[in-house]
Amino acid sequence: MFQVGRGEEGGPVMTPIIELAHVCMEFAVPGGKKVCAARDVSLEINKGEVVAVVGESGCGKSTIGKICLGVQKPTAGEVLIDGKPVWGRGLKMDHKTRMAVQVVHQDSYVSLNPVKTLYQTLSAPFRYYKISKGEADTEKKVIDLLNSVGLNPPEYFIGKYPFQLSGGQRQRVSIARATILDPKVIIADEPVSGVDASLKISILDLMRRLNEEKGIAFLYITHDLATARYFGREGRMVVMYLGSIVEQGGINELIFGPAHPYLEALLHAIPSPDPKKSKEKTGIPLKNLEMPDPAEPPTGCLFHPRCPYAEKICETGRPVLESMESDPAHLAACHFKGKFRR
Ligand SMILES: Nc1ncnc2c1ncn2[C@@H]1O[C@H](COP(=O)(O)OP(=O)(O)OP(=O)(O)O)[C@@H](O)[C@H]1O
Ligand SMILES: [Mg+2]
Repeated sequence: MFQVGRGEEGGPVMTPIIELAHVCMEFAVPGGKKVCAARDVSLEINKGEVVAVVGESGCGKSTIGKICLGVQKPTAGEVLIDGKPVWGRGLKMDHKTRMAVQVVHQDSYVSLNPVKTLYQTLSAPFRYYKISKGEADTEKKVIDLLNSVGLNPPEYFIGKYPFQLSGGQRQRVSIARATILDPKVIIADEPVSGVDASLKISILDLMRRLNEEKGIAFLYITHDLATARYFGREGRMVVMYLGSIVEQGGINELIFGPAHPYLEALLHAIPSPDPKKSKEKTGIPLKNLEMPDPAEPPTGCLFHPRCPYAEKICETGRPVLESMESDPAHLAACHFKGKFRR
């Protein structure tokens, strides 16, 4: 695992591969209303880092992924890839910088062309970007690529169409394609949600290997805290709620010591395979299980209508994302962060 150099004592200060500074993303929705899919989001992804983004459906995870990828222009804020602004006025990002960020989507059926064989799909970038020299070299590179993502023997897979593969195999092809241009970071948006439970771990292990051996950083978007912990291990985690980051820090620190009631609720919602333990679990009684309408967000703390610990101040004052005294790398946006009654 590569270490984060930035901010470490005595360590070199590195330019983050991706930096979002005070990014906002508003969408107009029917009825003349607006949905704020990202509110003042600041985030860095450093070399070789794994950053997991978690939260319920509609909290803005994919929006953040698309903004990091440079395909969605935020309504406010700045996006830098390798220190260069993606949307700067008059500036056109050079191709190499943009290609440093690649993506793996949840639905490999949609992201792979159904009428092309794996060879057609995977050989095209080698030719287009002049990475290979001649057809024999292209074929060798495609075979090496299939080998590198565990599609063995490659000669068996090379002529297959996406529909002839399992969900896990298709996802391996998507990951293979994402690595062709030697990216610095891969945005993996729910990459294992469509994969059979028995194969999820092997896909996460493949991404781990790419992280450890090639130093590729990952923005791992998921609603599943268990896979975030498995894949992220000693990486960082960002918890989103209604477009805002409500908590962030080291994955283990957050999982074993949530400072925001929302993360505490998410952790309690994870079912245990042991029925006895599940019964013992009291959970935190959320006042309301439903997410508020994103087009009419609550006043004050966005979580207060559901929060069992909410007090008067939470109804009016929007808490700022701030460091915990005990751990400056652990941030939470709660008036009672780490102090709420348990
Ligand atoms: N193009 C769009 N037009 C209007 N609203 C949008 C658009 N894209 C996203 N939204 C809204 O922005 C919010 C965040 O959406 P986003 O897809 O980023 O959430 P998500 O966390 O990825 O959800 P999921 O877990 O279901 O994939 C949602 O309320 C969504 O309806
Ligand atoms: Mg999504």
